[in-house]
Amino acid sequence: MSNSSTMESNSNPKAQQASSRVNILHAVEGYDQALAHQKQLYQTGTDFTEQKGAVANTVASLHPKRLHVRVSEVIEDTPTTKTLRLVGVSQTLPPFQAGQYINLFVNIDATATARPYAISSAPQTREYYDLTIKRVAGGFVSNYLLDSVTAGDEFETSGPMGTFYHNPLFHGTDLVFIAGGSGIAPARSMIINFANNQFVSANKQAKMHLVYTSSYEDDVIFEQELQQLAKEHDFLTITWVITRPTEQHTGKTGHLTAQMLEDIIGDDKPLTDKMFYVCGPTSFHDFCADQLRLLNVKARRVRIECNGPPKQPQNLPGWPANVKPTDVITVTIKDQGSFEARVDEPLLNSMERHGYSAENACRSGECSLCRVKVLTGTVFNPSEAKLRTTDEAYGWCHSCVAFPTSNIEIMI
Ligand code: FES
Repeated sequence: MSNSSTMESNSNPKAQQASSRVNILHAVEGYDQALAHQKQLYQTGTDFTEQKGAVANTVASLHPKRLHVRVSEVIEDTPTTKTLRLVGVSQTLPPFQAGQYINLFVNIDATATARPYAISSAPQTREYYDLTIKRVAGGFVSNYLLDSVTAGDEFETSGPMGTFYHNPLFHGTDLVFIAGGSGIAPARSMIINFANNQFVSANKQAKMHLVYTSSYEDDVIFEQELQQLAKEHDFLTITWVITRPTEQHTGKTGHLTAQMLEDIIGDDKPLTDKMFYVCGPTSFHDFCADQLRLLNVKARRVRIECNGPPKQPQNLPGWPANVKPTDVITVTIKDQGSFEARVDEPLLNSMERHGYSAENACRSGECSLCRVKVLTGTVFNPSEAKLRTTDEAYGWCHSCVAFPTSNIEIMI
């Protein structure tokens, strides 16, 4: 049947003409590739094989691993806090979600280290990132940034990272942000983001209650700006709390106990239906998490932005009773060298002080970039270390929050 058909078409002058035209087209350079491209487009709507490089470039520009930034301005916020305004040097700053952080790489007295800081400016401001830095007593990096950095200084940073941001689908629009000290940085970004967001301004149900605690009255960061935002936007309510007030202070004081939180936040809706964001020093968010637990708020309704390793690991559950925080042990890096360190210093910090490094970003036990394998000896892993079961089983630790409690050998 097919043979007779072919014979019929070959004997047909019009068919012969069409066939020779097709043959000529196939001889044209690039025609077959164009046909394959067309076929791909019919099947998928997009030829991803053709765009492979472009897609990769777009992803890389949206999620760069490193940024080269310059300090364009240093803004004095309070006696203990400054905001560094960073602009891109060789690239446009990538977009971010309000609440995310960047890891700032520094070199202080020949020690290469880094610290993550939440971006305090809003995502709508594309020209710069604000990093709001509060002095930490004895803090290696915060004191350097506050005392030595001036406009014009340049740094490397990571791209924006982290999952501490509002997800309307899962978090809803009845929100409480509990901030302590410089924990206000991501809150400010989220609040300005909401103020600029038509969805939030059009949604009369959308609420954000900011509970902001500061040590002293003169240490309230962004006070005037936040007051102005609360005046202009119905979604925002702010409760200010001072933990070490002067006698003249007439506002709320003390620590955020469960009772106090209930009194402050309680409204027509049960607390258990709200979404909580907590950001502040480690002791602050641990305390707040405990108080929210007492109020029966489920863990899935509490987002916590960790701010570094625990300061006094010896006070945490699981710390070996026979190890004193002043004990000194030897850390050996396989095939590279060894050094001595105190047991209450995070492993990553002591490695960096001795010229070793591991990739890092969150420095709070979450991202797992700083994993090192412990070959011999013991380390204390606090609850901040979000270790995978297999990591635990095979001796890996997150060096940013791991504390060696005996002489150890590690592989990096
Ligand atoms: S740097 Fe993220 S887990 Fe250590």
